[in-house]
Amino acid sequence: MEILKENIHNLENKIVIVTGSNCGIGFEAAKIFANQGAKVVLACRDDERGRNAEELIGNGSKYINLDLTSFKNINNFSKIIKSEFGSIDILLNNAGVMFPPFTKTDEGLELTFAINYIGYFYLTLKLLDLIKNVKNSRIVNVSSIAHYSAKEINFENLNSEQNYDKASTYNLVNLLRVMFTMELEKKLREKEMETIAVACHPGVAKTNLTRHLPGFLKKGFLLNIVFSTFFMSAYEGALPLVIAAAGTNVKGGDFVGIDSKRQMKGSPKITKPNDLVFDDNLRIKLWNNTQEITGLYF
Ligand SMILES: NC(=O)c1ccc[n+]([C@@H]2O[C@H](COP(=O)([O-])OP(=O)(O)OC[C@H]3O[C@@H](n4cnc5c(N)ncnc54)[C@H](OP(=O)(O)O)[C@@H]3O)[C@@H](O)[C@H]2O)c1
Repeated sequence: MEILKENIHNLENKIVIVTGSNCGIGFEAAKIFANQGAKVVLACRDDERGRNAEELIGNGSKYINLDLTSFKNINNFSKIIKSEFGSIDILLNNAGVMFPPFTKTDEGLELTFAINYIGYFYLTLKLLDLIKNVKNSRIVNVSSIAHYSAKEINFENLNSEQNYDKASTYNLVNLLRVMFTMELEKKLREKEMETIAVACHPGVAKTNLTRHLPGFLKKGFLLNIVFSTFFMSAYEGALPLVIAAAGTNVKGGDFVGIDSKRQMKGSPKITKPNDLVFDDNLRIKLWNNTQEITGLYF
């Protein structure tokens, strides 16, 4: 599987930020952008891993520290981007964790909720002024097929106030990422901004995301066979992200997934998200709630 140049916009000299790009699908997407001539910012939380990715990707890519568990760190990252670049063409919110043990950030947020959802919202709103008036710019949020498993939003347990269940938290934050994208897209159109918001998911790809699974599930010969038979490589999983970020036939509010029935393995295709995403009241309630948590408004 390959990205055909005619299927994506010219990325020469475009400023592209990819969060969580030191490994996995973020790394592969960043490499594709850099190979297409983009100036790629590798927004990663660890200096050593970030610099290593910068060396491997090359092509003028640049590591800048970003840790989505800290509002202070995101503020600092945004200041650096503003002073060094002044504008952004593509913001690809990709960083994420799955099933970490229950932990709270300095802001009192459960880790999955903080990184996979609040961090996306916070970073996007901090960088919005640098992207909203840039022609053909895009804000892309990565989600997962896990979002189809979320059946409701319990606002009383949004931040695991009542209980923390790893799997339902992961399903929920992935739904929130898509709902955030669609509400953002609506607001961008209402305010007649240039940038569009697009959501996507990578199918199922072999990456470090399984790091919090029990040892026997994440290592070994059997898992390699399962992955190569039913799932995809990190490179293949990155392709829906690249299409969402630069595809020529993608428009605001699209959800780029995979062209097979269960959407685990295949080629990028615009698909339909969970029906809850189309509930206007739910999206507005979520947006207002998130504004209160972050103290950021749009
Ligand atoms: N792989 C799949 O099958 C799959 C399926 C559906 C959705 N996704 C989504 O795809 C995205 C990328 O995941 P992946 O599969 O490529 O997993 P991965 O290999 O574990 O990559 C995750 C990236 O996020 C970074 N990250 C974690 N915590 C962070 C923080 N606090 N601040 C900044 N960056 C942080 C990681 O950095 P470190 O290396 O320093 O930890 C890493 O670069 C995630 O959002 C995930 O939910 C993946």
